[in-house]
Amino acid sequence: MPKPRAARILAVDDDKIISKALEKLLQHEGYEVILASDGESGLRRAREDDPDLILLDVVMPGKSGIEVCEELRRDRRTREKPILMLTSLKPPQDVVLGLRAGANDYVSKPFNAEELRARIATQLRNQRVLQRMVQIEKALSLGRITASLCHEINNPLHVVMGRLEMLLRQELDEKQTRYAQLALENARRIQKLIKYMREYAEPSVHSKDACDINDIIESAISIASLTWGKKEIQLEKEFGKDIPPVIGDREKLQQVFINLITNAEQVMPDGGQLTLRTSAGPDRTIQASVTDSGKGIPKENLERVFDPFFTTKENWTSPGLGLSVARRIIEELEGTIAISSEEGKGATVEISLPMA
Ligand SMILES: Nc1ncnc2c1ncn2[C@@H]1O[C@H](COP(=O)(O)OP(=O)(O)OP(=O)(O)O)[C@@H](O)[C@H]1O
Ligand SMILES: [Mg+2]
Repeated sequence: MPKPRAARILAVDDDKIISKALEKLLQHEGYEVILASDGESGLRRAREDDPDLILLDVVMPGKSGIEVCEELRRDRRTREKPILMLTSLKPPQDVVLGLRAGANDYVSKPFNAEELRARIATQLRNQRVLQRMVQIEKALSLGRITASLCHEINNPLHVVMGRLEMLLRQELDEKQTRYAQLALENARRIQKLIKYMREYAEPSVHSKDACDINDIIESAISIASLTWGKKEIQLEKEFGKDIPPVIGDREKLQQVFINLITNAEQVMPDGGQLTLRTSAGPDRTIQASVTDSGKGIPKENLERVFDPFFTTKENWTSPGLGLSVARRIIEELEGTIAISSEEGKGATVEISLPMA
C-alpha cells in the first residue's frame, strides 16, 4: 500500500521555546510541521501551505489568536480547517472566546504532551470522516445527475441511430453513404460513452457470494485479453494457494480486474510484463495486485486517477471511468484499492478485500 501523506500541522506561536517544543513533539509523531511566529505570517501560511490542522496561540503581539481564528473562518481556503487554540490565560473566558471565534477545541498551556497528541489525533480523524462524507455526497449527486442525463440523451440518440440505419439501407451515392456512416459511427461512440457513464452512475446491487479470487482474475484475463491482438504481453501469475474466498458479486469483481488489466495493457503499447498476484493478507483480508511495466503515472496525476472522468487517453472511447468504477465496487465490499507508480517504471494497483 502506498503510505498516505503525513498530516501537515501549522503551529502559530510567538514564543520560540514553545514553538521548538511543539515542532519536536509533532515531528516525533510523524507530522509535517510548519511554524509561524505571529498572526500575520500564520494567516499567510495557512492560506499558502494548505495545512491539515492549525495550532493557534491566543496571546500574540499584533493580531491575537482570536482575530486570526476569525479571519481563517471567513476565508474560503481555510474555512473548514480544524483549529486548536493554545490558551495560557485562565479558562473559561479564553476558551469561550476561542470557540466563539470558530476554534474546534483548545489545549491549555503549558500543554501536556499526551493530551495535545490525543486532541490533535481526534481533530484529524473527525476531519477525515467529514471529508469522506463530502466525497460520498458529491459522488451520489453526480451519480443522480449522470443517470438522468444519460436517460435524456439515450432516447433521442436511439431515434438518430435508427434513422441513420434506415437511411443507409436506401440507395445513396458514395458521398451520401460516407456522410451517413460517419454520423452513425459517431452516434455509436456517444452510445458507448453513455453506457460507461450509466455503469458508473447507477447504484449497483451486489449479490454476496463467496468468490474465489484466483478464479475471478483468471476469467477477467480471458475476457480482457480478447482485444490484445498480436501484442506481446508476458503474463505472470503469482497466485496464492488455498486462499479463502472473498464475499462479493462475482461479475462486479470480474469487472474490477478487467478494468485494471485493460489499463495495464493500454499503457504498454509495444507489449510488456503484466503480473497478477494474490495472497491471504493480515486481519482476515485477501490481497490482490496488478502490476505492469508501462509508462507509469506522473506524480501530479497519482491523486487524480480515481476521479471520475479523469483520463489521459486521447481516444474517444476512454471516458476515464475504469478506476473510479473499480474503486466504487471495492469500497462497497468494504475493501480498499490503491495505486502506486513511479513515472517510467510501471504501476501497481493493490486491492484488499475482507475474507468471507
Ligand atoms: N496501469 C496504469 N499505468 C499508467 N497510468 C494509468 C494506469 N492505470 C490508470 N492510469 C491513468 O489513470 C487514468 C484513469 O484511468 P481509468 O481506468 O479510470 O480511465 P481510462 O483508462 O482513461 O478510461 P476508461 O477506463 O474509462 O476506458 C488513465 O487515463 C491513465 O492516465
Ligand atoms: Mg481504464
